[in-house]
Amino acid sequence: MLLSAFLQRGMSALSLRYPEGEARSILSLLCGELLGTKSYTHILDPSFAVDPSREAELEEALVRLQEGEPVQYVLGKAAFFGRNFRVGPGVLIPRPETEQLCEMVLSACRETAEPAILDLCTGSGNIAWTLALEHPGACVTGVDKSSAALEIAESQLFSARFRPRFVRADILVEPDGFPAGGFDIIVSNPPYILDSEREAMRDNVLRYEPQEALFVPDEDPLLFYRAVARWAGAFLRPGGQLFAEINEDLGLSAKALMEALGFCNVLIHKDFYGKDRFVSCCKLQ
Ligand SMILES: C[S@@+](CC[C@H](N)C(=O)[O-])C[C@H]1O[C@@H](n2cnc3c(N)ncnc32)[C@H](O)[C@@H]1O
Repeated sequence: MLLSAFLQRGMSALSLRYPEGEARSILSLLCGELLGTKSYTHILDPSFAVDPSREAELEEALVRLQEGEPVQYVLGKAAFFGRNFRVGPGVLIPRPETEQLCEMVLSACRETAEPAILDLCTGSGNIAWTLALEHPGACVTGVDKSSAALEIAESQLFSARFRPRFVRADILVEPDGFPAGGFDIIVSNPPYILDSEREAMRDNVLRYEPQEALFVPDEDPLLFYRAVARWAGAFLRPGGQLFAEINEDLGLSAKALMEALGFCNVLIHKDFYGKDRFVSCCKLQ
């Protein structure tokens, strides 16, 4: 089978679901991973043939993509902060905005040789691992309620020397299990999409990504921020910093909440789309 023929068929298979540019990038990612080809291989070499031993795998992947499964689940990996993270059913596919959250934490602890960092709602461990690998002195702990997520976080293929500690806990119940004031920084990307926003979302996100990683009830949109604030109250040292990703429509309410709960220097930060996306604050000295 010629690569160009597969790509042509792939484009028509995916065109019902994705805009042309996105369909092209998905196929390019798929062929890059499975065949080692570049996005332009079929143009430079129109006679390039797919290795027959990979054909079945490629066809099976195309069927899954056509059904709407995200390419990251089909490949079992997602790019984040320049590294490939294992992903699978049970964990959210890391989003590019969250790289900014990591940048903010890294710049906050640049001057600290061995910062103790707690990542609440760690999922695939993308934040925890990134901080541990980018700041080799950091001692990072990741917490999640989902065993499936923790299994994936533990299984990431990075140097064991920097491995964060992963702990199963439900952050909506009373904080427990860590030394009081033991962390310099708490970071979190908790569920923050309102139930009522489901309708506007792509059906492949709704069908494939874990709902408990995404949604909060409309009646209590800041549920997880109150929980994160309780954990910060218990485990952040005085003067320590809290960073969290937020729903773009809830910047002002998140800020008001953190101020009402006694945090200082509460700031809202925009993402690269210009949307309110992060809140940061400090625990009083
Ligand atoms: C938005 S995902 C974030 C995953 C990852 N940190 C990221 O940035 O891609 C939210 C995570 O919160 C976890 N979670 C949901 N409810 C939780 C709870 N009550 N306690 C702890 N973790 C929870 C989910 O399992 C999911 O992994």
